[in-house]
Amino acid sequence: MKVALIGLGSVGRGVAEMLAKKDLGLVLTGIADSKSAFMDPAGIDIARVLAHKKKNGSCGDQNLTAEDIIKKADYDALIEVTPTNALSGEPAIGYMKAALNRKKHVVTSNKGPIALAQKELRAMARKKGVALRYEATVAGAIPVMHTLEHGLAGNEILALYGVLNGTCNYILTRMAAEGLTYEQALLEAREMGYAEADPTYDVQGIDAAIKLVILANTIWDNGVKLGDVDRTGIDLLTPDALRLADEEGCTIRLIAEANPKKHLLRVSPRILDKNHPLVFEGTLNALTLETDMAKEITLIGRGAGSIETASAIIGDLLYIRDRYVERA
Ligand code: HSE
Repeated sequence: MKVALIGLGSVGRGVAEMLAKKDLGLVLTGIADSKSAFMDPAGIDIARVLAHKKKNGSCGDQNLTAEDIIKKADYDALIEVTPTNALSGEPAIGYMKAALNRKKHVVTSNKGPIALAQKELRAMARKKGVALRYEATVAGAIPVMHTLEHGLAGNEILALYGVLNGTCNYILTRMAAEGLTYEQALLEAREMGYAEADPTYDVQGIDAAIKLVILANTIWDNGVKLGDVDRTGIDLLTPDALRLADEEGCTIRLIAEANPKKHLLRVSPRILDKNHPLVFEGTLNALTLETDMAKEITLIGRGAGSIETASAIIGDLLYIRDRYVERA
């Protein structure tokens, strides 16, 4: 299957490296970063392009753009991993629509467009007979969407709650374990590359709220928006609050929760027993799904990271290859 990659930041680089390293039968025929692009219908030499990017700061021809790749390159699936814009979703929404219009499958890690325009993009993909997949938008490497779609098929999802932001989990872990201030812990999280380009998205709970909206719309198709989430971040938490929780055998985690029957859609710091199933250290994410048949299922794994997120994207690509492309 031929793929085109738009976006060469941390996630894009992870995807490109894994396409080069693993023999997955996925051929990269187009690539674009914010300054340049490159296409070759016979397959791009990924190592060469990445070396060029490292040396010159751009991946290819500066007269070519992402739009050129999306509209002209020869590919079956577009991998859209440009930086997220939670306000307009652009330019990614336009990129995805252009690919869907060409009847190309789309795989994305881009949270803004899926939170803002999931319904419209899904309808467009359905109309064109192609797939729109976004496993990588929620909880990094954890196969949440595949679990919902396949493993829990036929179950009614009654409610969900979880830790959906690795940066906040890391900050809270470090504050509790080392007595670091919020600012010191945030600095560490940024240095490790887990935080969003604008880390207020992480610490004010916006990133977790976006993921909650994506999950709610995927599961219940209830048209909820970012503004519907009752949201409190961790930016005002003090080391004292964590110390007091610790004295009671508890800790604090940023929990996202949804229960449509109770009209609950909330992201907030919660005091949890240290043995609670959602209490993990570092950048781990965890999500509990309450269902009618399977009862409670908790998924745990790496919620952020270049290669971890590439895992989710490659899972979506191989699903498309097996389900659509090889059958065609
Ligand atoms: N900044 C996000 C996090 C990245 O920390 O969870 C993954 O979505």
